[in-house]
Amino acid sequence: MKNLVAEAIKARTKTYSPYSNFAVGAAILVKDGTIIHGVNIENASYGLSNCAERSALFSTYSSGYKKEDIVAMAIVADTKKPVSPCGACRQVINELVEKDTPIYLANLKGEIKQVKIADLLPYSFDELENNE
Ligand code: THU
Repeated sequence: MKNLVAEAIKARTKTYSPYSNFAVGAAILVKDGTIIHGVNIENASYGLSNCAERSALFSTYSSGYKKEDIVAMAIVADTKKPVSPCGACRQVINELVEKDTPIYLANLKGEIKQVKIADLLPYSFDELENNE
């Protein structure tokens, strides 16, 4: 857990967030031991900005991994309490990460909160599983 949070802290240094100056890092551990980083990447047209969580997940899938390969995910920001993913990221995590995969929410003070996606997004909309 601490190692993956440390990786998210390393990832965070690669943020491109000149508009908010709010740096977020994410790290995803996959079964073969690879760790994939993600950062928030902003845009002058603010709405096009991408969060660290989604960057990490899209990189993971772009590298050929699928949800069953993901062992754990860590997210970190300089927040009072462990960082709380936005609603859009919760929906994307719900789609791309298995239901029981541990998600570590962290801050730079060393606080870590372990959750799973159902804690973040209860009663989720899930096209593939709920609506058959
Ligand atoms: N952000 C993330 O990357 N992840 C979160 O969990 C919260 C918000 C980004 C989006 C934007 O670049 C900046 O933080 C401020 O909202």
